[in-house]
Amino acid sequence: MHYMIEEIREEKDLLDKYSTEHKKDSELALNHIEKSNGCIISGNGTSYNAAYYLSLLLLKRDVLSVPVFASEFNKFMNAEFSFKNREVILFSQSGETSDIISAANFGKGKGASIMSICNVPGSSLSRLSDISIITPAGHEKSVAATKSHLGQLLSSLSIYFAREPDEFRKLLGKVKEGFEVIMKRGNEIKTIAERLLPKVVLLGSGLDYPVAREGALKLKETCSMITEAYPTREFLHGPKQILDDSWSVLILSNEEEVKQELSKLSRNVLDLNAIIHEEFKIRFHSEIADSILKVLFVQLLSYYRAVFLGLDPDKPSKLTKVITS
Ligand code: AGP
Repeated sequence: MHYMIEEIREEKDLLDKYSTEHKKDSELALNHIEKSNGCIISGNGTSYNAAYYLSLLLLKRDVLSVPVFASEFNKFMNAEFSFKNREVILFSQSGETSDIISAANFGKGKGASIMSICNVPGSSLSRLSDISIITPAGHEKSVAATKSHLGQLLSSLSIYFAREPDEFRKLLGKVKEGFEVIMKRGNEIKTIAERLLPKVVLLGSGLDYPVAREGALKLKETCSMITEAYPTREFLHGPKQILDDSWSVLILSNEEEVKQELSKLSRNVLDLNAIIHEEFKIRFHSEIADSILKVLFVQLLSYYRAVFLGLDPDKPSKLTKVITS
């Protein structure tokens, strides 16, 4: 048994944890964020995808927020940029990644308030933070982050819904129902994974875009596949040129015209909305609930594909769990 699939299964417990525990730190975080003059949100890899997701959520709350790769943080935030009254929000599973630590030190040095969302209590990042939020995903063994990423997204939602706890619980209940259905349809996801062509492009709009990015990253890490991720319609503005019958297209967001157009170029265009809502019969609840279910789907897709290829998804040959170099 691989850790990756065990950790994906543990995501159900994580949903329960967020439904039952009232998160006081989320209210504190939202107050801070709303009082600030905008947020710079950062992370690497999977944690960057969480940063992107939170920045989209905060825009929905009328908070100006910009996602920045932690590895680019010091270069992007040059001498002209003022951190005065800005909130720096840093995501990290480990809290020890060198890029995130240097972003935290850089922000602190410039007088910014640092908030972190981290999976390891007492980590270097948590200790450097003015506000430290811990994702209760527990120790994650697989190099491919899964449950910790769900924790990052749920903590982001917990901040977003800090003043609407009932709505958050209702949403989590719906996600849990969908989660159980998707887990039961594992064999169908396995078949989809086995039929993927050697290269995959994932397309998603709104909250589905960071999910598409995460799916592309998971397939790279666990299966060494060539993958791309684009906002759905953005793919038409040039990148479409790469498409041929060696590419699968996984469309996360409903765009019928795009689907029709791309189906003329690739024989393997998959519509994730059709899969989860029509085939799996999961009732649509909201864009947010859908985005979380799609995270689960792309995680399972990567897992099954890796197993099909005879690869160990827990230990990609060229990666380590924490990048400190
Ligand atoms: C996730 O599957 C990867 N192992 C990688 O992208 C990771 O998210 C990145 O290196 C950041 O790590 P951190 O979250 O521990 O800071």
